Amino acid sequence: MTDPSRPDCEQLVVVLVGLPARGKSYVARKIVRYLSWLGWTTRTFNVGAYRRARLGAHHREAFFSPDNTEGLRQRQAIADAALNDLIAWMQAGGAVGIYDATNTTKMRRDRIRAELAKAGLQPLFIETICEDPTLVATNIRQNKLNSPDYAGVSDDEAVADFRKRIAHYERAYEPLGAGESSYVKFIDVGRRIEIDGLRGYLPGKLLFFLMNTHLERRPVWLTRHGESAYNQIGRIGGDTTLTAQGEAYAKAVATFMQCRLAGTKQPAVFTSTLRRTRQTAAHLPLIPVAWRLLDEIDAGVCDGLTYAEIGERYPDEFAARQADKLHYRYPCGESYVDVIQRLEPVLLEIERERSPVLVVAHQAVIRALYGYFKGLQPDEVPHLEVPLHTIIELRAGPYGLDEERFPLLEQ
Ligand code: SIN
Repeated sequence: MTDPSRPDCEQLVVVLVGLPARGKSYVARKIVRYLSWLGWTTRTFNVGAYRRARLGAHHREAFFSPDNTEGLRQRQAIADAALNDLIAWMQAGGAVGIYDATNTTKMRRDRIRAELAKAGLQPLFIETICEDPTLVATNIRQNKLNSPDYAGVSDDEAVADFRKRIAHYERAYEPLGAGESSYVKFIDVGRRIEIDGLRGYLPGKLLFFLMNTHLERRPVWLTRHGESAYNQIGRIGGDTTLTAQGEAYAKAVATFMQCRLAGTKQPAVFTSTLRRTRQTAAHLPLIPVAWRLLDEIDAGVCDGLTYAEIGERYPDEFAARQADKLHYRYPCGESYVDVIQRLEPVLLEIERERSPVLVVAHQAVIRALYGYFKGLQPDEVPHLEVPLHTIIELRAGPYGLDEERFPLLEQ
């Protein structure tokens, strides 16, 4: 079920459209990660995965030819099975279902619309189009060669077969057009976007998210501030300055960044407005942007206390937090869910940014951002290990997100 703290109970079915190797699954993954992080139960139903699970992963291009009647029958049955599962999942309370298939003919899309309508659901079509042939070639090389469809097949043979598969789909391809709203045409990974008939909260949110998507590969570094006076004595919150150890970390961060940045673009550096993060970024040869949104979780009446003091003064609060750390909201303060929601504009700024990004913030905030990048469920976020004096480096690799952790001081 959708996070009960969500103010809205809107449901959405995203139906992807596009030739093979046009980035449909890439878009699906991004949407799942973003909306799940924000608390919507989101799930992808990938027709290719259904085919492999039910029929095996041995199909060569001829199976996908529009002239192959038996292939067409089997593919239609598999597509129907995935759609039926999506509808059943939505009826059981799923918030956002993503139907990841080519759906390249109008007949197929009309059928999907009709089936969804019977369940009281309406689709938002997102058509991924690549006008840039190098993007298609890269997608084939980076993603399709590793597909179970081509296990044990040489790269050249796999590419040739996959290109023939694409040609079969091209013969029957009818791009989304008049009378098929609502839709978004997502062209060359967001270089151009066309929309028709879009309305509603979730579609609008998704559109804004997609508009900030690009393929630029750049690292994102996440770090907590150096040790503060409150860290040293186990108090939470406050706005204390760095200890000598914390100051040593601030210098180590500057040295680390100098080495890591050699030959790359100038990074964007974001801190919170609290002194401990600004001091941690102070030795960098760059002017950081201080975001209030990056401030630590507001501990309300518990600000400035140790956990032992919270347990003594507010035993019920302490127990409630232990029981559900994600939803627990400090009296006059915030919950982790509040933190995730307030971080959304920062996250979109990080996504939009084409240069490397360094974020110097606080434990709860770094946990929340890290949870997004790693595609974790919100309830995992409050329990993540994010030690002091360690930089987390995240880089998009060909097979997902690569992570490296750099502890810069002796623990
Ligand atoms: C597949 O079977 O790999 C994709 C089926 C489709 O979406 O056309």
